[in-house]
Amino acid sequence: MNRSQEIARRRTFAIISHPDAGKTTLTEKFLLFGGAIQSAGAVKSNKIKKSATSDFMEIEKQRGISVSTSVMGFEYNGRRVNILDTPGHKDFAEDTYRTLTAVDSVILVVDAAKGVEEQTEKLMAVCRMRNTPVIIFINKMDREGQDPFDLLEELEEKLNIKVTPLTWPISKGATFKGVYNMYRKQLNLFAPNKTGISDEVSAFEDLNDPKLDQIIGKYAAQLREEAELAALYPAYDRETYLAGEVAPVFFGSALNNFGVQELLNTFVEIAPEPRPRLSSTGEVKPEDQKLSGFVFKIHANLDPNHRDRIAFMRICSGVFEKNTFYFHPRLKKKYRFSTPIMFQANDRTNVETAYPGDVVGLYDTGNFKIGDSLTEGGAFFFKGIPAFSPELFRMVENNDPFKAKQFEKGLKQLTDEGVAQLFTQQPGNRKIIGTVGELQFDVIQHRLLHEYSAKVSFRGLPYLKACWIDSEDEAAVEEFFRYKKDHLAYDKDNRPVYLADSLWMLQRAIDENPKLSFKFSSEIIVSEDAEENA
Ligand code: G4P
Repeated sequence: MNRSQEIARRRTFAIISHPDAGKTTLTEKFLLFGGAIQSAGAVKSNKIKKSATSDFMEIEKQRGISVSTSVMGFEYNGRRVNILDTPGHKDFAEDTYRTLTAVDSVILVVDAAKGVEEQTEKLMAVCRMRNTPVIIFINKMDREGQDPFDLLEELEEKLNIKVTPLTWPISKGATFKGVYNMYRKQLNLFAPNKTGISDEVSAFEDLNDPKLDQIIGKYAAQLREEAELAALYPAYDRETYLAGEVAPVFFGSALNNFGVQELLNTFVEIAPEPRPRLSSTGEVKPEDQKLSGFVFKIHANLDPNHRDRIAFMRICSGVFEKNTFYFHPRLKKKYRFSTPIMFQANDRTNVETAYPGDVVGLYDTGNFKIGDSLTEGGAFFFKGIPAFSPELFRMVENNDPFKAKQFEKGLKQLTDEGVAQLFTQQPGNRKIIGTVGELQFDVIQHRLLHEYSAKVSFRGLPYLKACWIDSEDEAAVEEFFRYKKDHLAYDKDNRPVYLADSLWMLQRAIDENPKLSFKFSSEIIVSEDAEENA
């Protein structure tokens, strides 16, 4: 197979959902279909159990498990499918948001009873920023859920995307009969089946055929009526799907393996192959000859005795080969990797070659940070790897003056890894950690102590939101902070950040300073001077 065929057959995506909607179950069923696992329950969930919200060791244990499920690759219908796993726990949301920069599309799982939930909205907002194509799977149809029309309306309203149902459910809950695939004109009858791996699908051209009444009895009339109304949604169109404007919708039950194969079949057919990415020197196309890729996730702590880490790199162009020297533009050095790895469900395998769309794991001793690129000579970085505005702030203090160096180093490395964000405030060089979840503070305290021998404590700060301040008018920025010294901090790239005490204060600042733009996400920038020097 030549390189362009290899690229064209790749489907790199993430399954996202509010916790408990069924992401893990669906992932597992995909792996079953892909032959990557043999039975349900074989993939250890990377879910951080709800009960473990403050149990750090438990979380670490589970994080250990989750390395192997970070990327799950398998072959299906001639396609190479790469599922990038995202942590369900909301305290690790930043990790999830960054992973979304490395995919070409997503499948969003929604619980039929609960509809759009908080995390669903947040995750979709990130996808919308990048116009990532989305397919929606409405799960748990075997339970009493909401009316399908209401659900579709809610999706459109809350997720700011148009939808088009490709299948339609026949009743729900205890009387759920199956789905009708309006696109393929097929009837898929529901038979609860938690372990099997095939849907019994039969062609059914005309819903007015009286046979329908024999098969699903009184639900036939209801299906005819609803299908007619559902047809009022715009017809499926691949262009609008790929543009991230319209999301095709499927109904099913992941637990019962129902509607899953139908979803997977359609997904591999319509989902985008690796797409071009924007870099600091223009668009990088997957077909470009020279290798390039970027690090979107770093997983540390694989072995507490060694400070080893795996940097996850998404390949964007060229071909990645082991033992080949590649250029690290930020450090302006060349590196080669003798044991890069790829993931196959629960296993890691050594990679010889990897193509655009693939994710390789690179053993790292501290050379990578989130957003770094690796190239075949080009001195560029990829755009659009976000840092999101944190919402919890604490001042971190080193308790042992003899360990100042370890403290500084540990803090730098952990924040490079993306565990949390680091801000500095003057005078006094106060170090402020900003996170999206409480857990990160435990993670930082524990890891600083165990990996860097630095004992730290935190002091709560009253800030509620950080936002990056940007303006053409530098004097306006200075003027703004002249009166808000206590609320000024600098991020790791030395950009000014406004720490607001309350939403009211923030809104007032926005209203009173029309020359400034207040940003709630910023791009992670990797040293720009590397571009000039290389
Ligand atoms: P998540 O990764 O999105 O957090 O969700 P997960 O797949 O773990 O599913 C959450 C719960 O919902 C699980 O039950 C799972 O069995 C159940 N579930 C998933 N799909 C369906 C479905 O189609 N129908 C029904 N009725 N339930 C479904 P649990 O009791 O929390 O966990 P477990 O003990 O079964 O693992």
